[in-house]
Amino acid sequence: MINKIKGTYDILPEDSAKWQDLEDVIRNVSKLFNFKEIRTPIFEYSELFHRGVGETTDIVKKETYDFEDRGGRSVTLRPEGTASVVRSIIENKLYADATQPLKLYYQGPMFRYERPQKGRYRQFHQFGAEAIGSNSPLIDAEIINYAATFLQALRIKNIKIKINSLGDAESKELYKEKLREYLRPNIHQLCGDCNRRYEENPLRVLDCKVDKDNPVLIEAPKPLDFLTEESKYHFDQVIAALDAIGLDYEIDKSLVRGLDYYTHTVFEIDADLESLGAQSTLVGGGRYNKLVESLDGPDTPAVGFAFGLERLLLALESVDKPQNAPFIHCFMIALGDDVQADALTMVNDLRHGGLICDYDFFNKNLKGKFKQAERLNAFFILIYGEEEAKEKMINVKDTRSGIQERVPLRNLYNYIVNNLNPSHGSCSGNCSSCDEC
Ligand code: HAM
Repeated sequence: MINKIKGTYDILPEDSAKWQDLEDVIRNVSKLFNFKEIRTPIFEYSELFHRGVGETTDIVKKETYDFEDRGGRSVTLRPEGTASVVRSIIENKLYADATQPLKLYYQGPMFRYERPQKGRYRQFHQFGAEAIGSNSPLIDAEIINYAATFLQALRIKNIKIKINSLGDAESKELYKEKLREYLRPNIHQLCGDCNRRYEENPLRVLDCKVDKDNPVLIEAPKPLDFLTEESKYHFDQVIAALDAIGLDYEIDKSLVRGLDYYTHTVFEIDADLESLGAQSTLVGGGRYNKLVESLDGPDTPAVGFAFGLERLLLALESVDKPQNAPFIHCFMIALGDDVQADALTMVNDLRHGGLICDYDFFNKNLKGKFKQAERLNAFFILIYGEEEAKEKMINVKDTRSGIQERVPLRNLYNYIVNNLNPSHGSCSGNCSSCDEC
């Protein structure tokens, strides 16, 4: 028997609906923020990631799947999406589009040769978004808001938004110098990898998984203390915008992120959920004002994020989602031959108003009819007999609350819509953006 490769997994038919639901929310929320989808190849010339993500990062040093193709070219399975999107916008000259910034999102498999564990795989999936062409701090806040709104739509709670700034290129250089000075007398206390990182790029010492709790790293100088005036102003504006939007965040002075391309804002959102295990970071992102230029495009500022979909699915295990069960809005029970035509017309009118309705076509006893409504998970059972017809009324039973009311026929549609979702009157029960869905 040939087994799957370590760190990969099959999405079996019983799980594919969960993926499709997640992909629907990605599309819906991206539409709300007016981001358009871009799809790029899953492999690229290796040079793209070496130059884009950075030679000294763990991703490029230890985790990429590199191979030579039959033409002798060095190619790499993409470890992330940002470098590919930037390559594509340069190659297709999208940076010259009239509508700026370019607002793009993507989803698909990524590949990293990491030690597999719950929430960490060698083939995993990301949903990422990139806003390319604007240096406005408002778009940094918009990107963070987009990520947070997506989590709200999924009803994932217990999240913590952590934000920091690395500043512009000048601030980063100044900080690197200060960090190197600080590390010089202490570097022998850190691991072999850190000694190498210290020489090549001291910022990467701060990503060390071995020494992450070492006091030498905990007490290291922080980038926020070395920002130029301009960078500090940018960061203050991002914070002001997040305050205006009303998002809760925490400034995490130690957050640097593991990819070399970041400048200014960096952020991550963690969730404190048992189902996630140790891999609690759902999304990471930030501004990367020099990447487009470093990949031979014009000087173009940009900011973005990427979620890991497997981690989102693990987080969703902690979320109650009763609405995931198939449901219909109304089930009509018409009692007596004379009222059948009227009842069918009513059902049709409700459908034209966007409600999912079904009808009792069997001549079962009343108990059987109610059983059928229950099987279909009808939110409302409509009971219409000759007496109701005479009075131009109908009985409506809300199966979730158990409340039954007699409603004038002319008010039926409004009654249903207003009571569909007790806290969000106009939601049809599957909008994926209100509190209940
Ligand atoms: P990243 O932090 O390397 O950033 O990855 C983003 C997210 O992908 C992580 O927070 C995590 O949820 C998920 N992830 C990463 N590695 C794995 C893995 N081995 N298994 C499962 N999930 C994983 C980036 O990739 C940047 N391109 C984000 C970005 C976009 N920055 C600006 N624009």
